[in-house]
Formats: sequence, structure tokens, C-alpha cells
Amino acid sequence: MLGLSLLLLLPLLFQSTPITAATLPSTLNTREKCQTSRSHCSPGTLIVGKSKDADFNTLQDAITSLPNDNTTATILLLPGIYEEQVNITRQGPITLLGSTSSPKDPSRNKVTLKWAAANKDSTGQSVDNVYSSVLVVAPTLNASITGSGPTGFAVPEDTPFGNRDFRAYNIDFRNTWSEYSDGPAHAISFSRANGGFYYCGFYSYQDTVYIGKLGNAYFYKSIIAGQTDFLYGFGTAWIQSSELQLRGCGGGITAWKGTNTTFENKYGIYIADSTLKAANSSIAPEIKGACALGRPWNSQHRSIFARCYEDGTIGSSGYIDWVVDGVARYQEGVTLQAEYKSYGPGFNKTGRTEGGVTTLLGTKEWKSFSEPKKVFQDQEGVFGNVQWIDWDVVHSK
Ligand SMILES: *[C@@H]1O[C@H](CO)[C@@H](O)[C@H](O)[C@H]1NC(C)=O
Ligand SMILES: *[C@@H]1O[C@H](CO)[C@@H](O)[C@H](O)[C@H]1NC(C)=O
Ligand SMILES: *[C@@H]1O[C@H](CO)[C@@H](O)[C@H](O)[C@H]1NC(C)=O
Ligand SMILES: *[C@@H]1O[C@H](CO)[C@@H](O)[C@H](O)[C@H]1NC(C)=O
Ligand SMILES: *[C@@H]1O[C@H](CO)[C@@H](O)[C@H](O)[C@H]1NC(C)=O
Ligand SMILES: *[C@@H]1O[C@H](CO)[C@@H](O)[C@H](O)[C@H]1NC(C)=O
Repeated sequence: MLGLSLLLLLPLLFQSTPITAATLPSTLNTREKCQTSRSHCSPGTLIVGKSKDADFNTLQDAITSLPNDNTTATILLLPGIYEEQVNITRQGPITLLGSTSSPKDPSRNKVTLKWAAANKDSTGQSVDNVYSSVLVVAPTLNASITGSGPTGFAVPEDTPFGNRDFRAYNIDFRNTWSEYSDGPAHAISFSRANGGFYYCGFYSYQDTVYIGKLGNAYFYKSIIAGQTDFLYGFGTAWIQSSELQLRGCGGGITAWKGTNTTFENKYGIYIADSTLKAANSSIAPEIKGACALGRPWNSQHRSIFARCYEDGTIGSSGYIDWVVDGVARYQEGVTLQAEYKSYGPGFNKTGRTEGGVTTLLGTKEWKSFSEPKKVFQDQEGVFGNVQWIDWDVVHSK
């Protein structure tokens, strides 16, 4: 009798040994279960990894295999460092999942996309910034080009919109060209597309994150590290509950270029409930009081830090001006370099007022920018373009 009941129990004992739904914490949602163990991914999920049992060895191969239509694609990257530049032109929704055992902690990501390049070719000739990027999301190469001058590279009117719903979770994007600013070296380049990055990391020194024309990018609980103008562009970016790591000081943290449109636009960068800190304790004393919140790439620069903690790295004037050939780009009433309820040792109210290029917003003024739906627009300028944001993540604890 005893022997028989043990025999009956045996299959149960064996079944519970491998990682199954039963052993995964019940607090994990469907996406997090897939990120924790590939056997939990929904059917059709493409697997990228170095091992033989992966569907693709590079992310670009997985992207290239996708049909050019509006179907949704989900790609899981197994742990590892992928040394490649990735281009995404497709319109259909794409979700990139990084494998991780800590889905809510970007400092413990296990998937890295890495590339080492600045805006120079192998002979040292300068090339457009886009060629340095680890990840490029844009409908065409021309649509991703930064260009120069007050309006940047002119994109033809008939250029289509690119990806409408791009999502990335727990992936680090690292441009390892140099350990200091040595020209633009993008981690990502994002134009004419909508996309959200959750628990991701972006590491470079100069121009780490580029949000180009008609780019709408939302960042949640992510880490962004840089030294010079490391959040820059023409489009619209919202950074929520994230960590900005200062690896040095140069230019400013933000450098935006506004565009004249026939409709009211709120192109710019909004950083909310985030922290601005020296990257580590060895660099902290070297850059004390020396970093600027931003500088105007053109006079129509718009950026707001809202309810952010600033450590002693931030200089007393907050923002600075950008003077080129004796011409100041900061223009009273045109340029908006603002803060709302900043706090911490880097916030010096007297210094801000004396500096003269930082606007301290009141609650009423902040109200017209205070939520993503108030700033993200579609191509025609209609506000409320936020259906591509993963609100489940944002509203969860
Ligand atoms: C995707 O859907 C949009 C909107 O319905 C449509 O305009 C576009 O042509 C579609 N793209 C492709 C590649 O089928
Ligand atoms: C991505 O596009 C850039 C710019 O055209 C190019 O240099 C790079 O080789 C492309 N990478 C891939 C993987 O297609
Ligand atoms: C990209 O822009 C260049 C420069 O304006 C132009 O010569 C070229 O034809 C464009 N390429 C495409 C594919 O439209
Ligand atoms: C601290 O950060 C600086 C700037 O990124 C880097 O050069 C240095 O190696 C870091 N030091 C430590 C101990 O991590
Ligand atoms: C926008 O218009 C203003 C006023 O007409 C002009 O001074 C400015 O140069 C224009 N900016 C851009 C980026 O075209
Ligand atoms: C704040 O700014 C004022 C004006 O620039 C300066 O005199 C003062 O030393 C600053 N305070 C701190 C703590 O840096």
C-alpha cells in the first residue's frame, strides 16, 4: 500500500522540479513570466540568442524576418551581449523583451545591445550622427538623419510614418565608443515613430538619446547615462520615474531644437519624478556644481524637469545659454528651459533667478504639460497620441 502511494506521487515530484508556472512568483504578469522563462512566452514569440535552440542569433535577423505589415511581433532576447546595430523601419507593433530575473530593476538587466561608434567613418571623416546609433527606429534612413542648421535634415513631405507602437523592456543600449565625450555617439535614434522603453538602460557620453522629427518616445523606470547634450532632438520625449546618471559635464543634459509648425506643438522633453545624480562617488567631487540642466540647440528649445531630485552636480544657474558666433540662442519668451518643484542640493533658487535662462514654473503653468497626453501629438498635431504607452506598467506598483 505504502509503495503504491509513493509510486503515484513520483510523477508529481518530478513534474515540480523544472521551472513551471507553479514555481514562478504569482505576482509576475504574462510578459514578466516570458522574460523569466522562455517556456512561458506566448506562441509565435521569436527567440533571439547565441545558442542553437534560438530562432535567430542576432536581433536584426529577427527584425528582418518580420513581414512588412501591421501584425504585432514579440521578440525575446536571451541573456547576453549582442554586438550589433539594429534598424527598425516596419510600421507594425514590435515588442522587444529582455530576459531577466528582476523585471522591475533596470540596474540588473541581462541583455545588452552594444555598438562602438561616434559620428566619424573609418578614415576620420565626419558622418551623420545616425551612423553611430546602436538602435535606429525610423521609416527610412533619410528620416533618421540629424542634419544641421536650424531645421536639421529636410525630410521629404511624403515620407511615411514608421513604427506606430514600439516597446522595449529590460534592455540596455550601450554605445562604448569612448569613456568621455568624443562627438555624438547615440545609444538610440528614434524618428517618425511612437515607442516606449521600460526598465531599459541607455549608456554613452555624448548625445546618448536622440528623438528626431515626429518621434514620440516614453521612458519609464529607466537609466540614462551621459555627459554632453545626452538628451537631444526635435521630437517629443517623456521620461518618467527614471535615473539620469551624470558621467561628466558638457553642454547640458538636454539640448532640443524646436520646429515651426502650422499647428500648436509641444515638441520638447519632459522629465518627471526622476533623479539627476553623479554616475558614481568617484566622479561626484570632480563635477560638483558643474553640470547644466540643458542649453538651447535652437531658440525654440523646450524642456521641463518636474518634481526631480537634483544632487550637488547641478550648477546654480540650472540651465545655461548656448552662444554661437556671438549670438545667444536663448530668447526670452521663445525658449522654454524650465523646472517645476525641483528639489535636492542641486536646486538653488537664487542661482536660477540670477542665471536668467531658467524658468521656474508654477502649478498653473505646469498644468498645460503635466501629463503625456497633453504633449504627445500625431503627425497632424492632434494631442492625446498615447495609446502606444504601456499604461499597465505605469499604473502598477
Ligand atoms: C498599417 O495600418 C495603417 C493604418 O491603418 C495604414 O495606413 C498602413 O498602410 C498599414 N501599413 C502596412 C505596411 O500595411
Ligand atoms: C542600419 O543603418 C545604418 C545606417 O544606414 C547602417 O550603417 C547599418 O549598417 C544598418 N545596420 C543594419 C543591421 O542594417
Ligand atoms: C535622401 O536624401 C538625399 C539628400 O537630400 C537625396 O539625395 C536622396 O535621394 C534621399 N534618399 C531617398 C531614398 O529618398
Ligand atoms: C565613475 O564614472 C566615471 C564616468 O563615467 C567613470 O569614468 C569611472 O570609471 C567610474 N568609476 C567607478 C569606480 O565606477
Ligand atoms: C521659426 O520662426 C521664427 C519666426 O518667424 C524664426 O525666427 C525662426 O528662425 C523659425 N525657426 C525655425 C526652426 O524655423
Ligand atoms: C546659490 O546661487 C547663488 C547665486 O549664484 C550663489 O551666490 C550661492 O553661492 C549659491 N549657493 C549654493 C549653495 O551653491
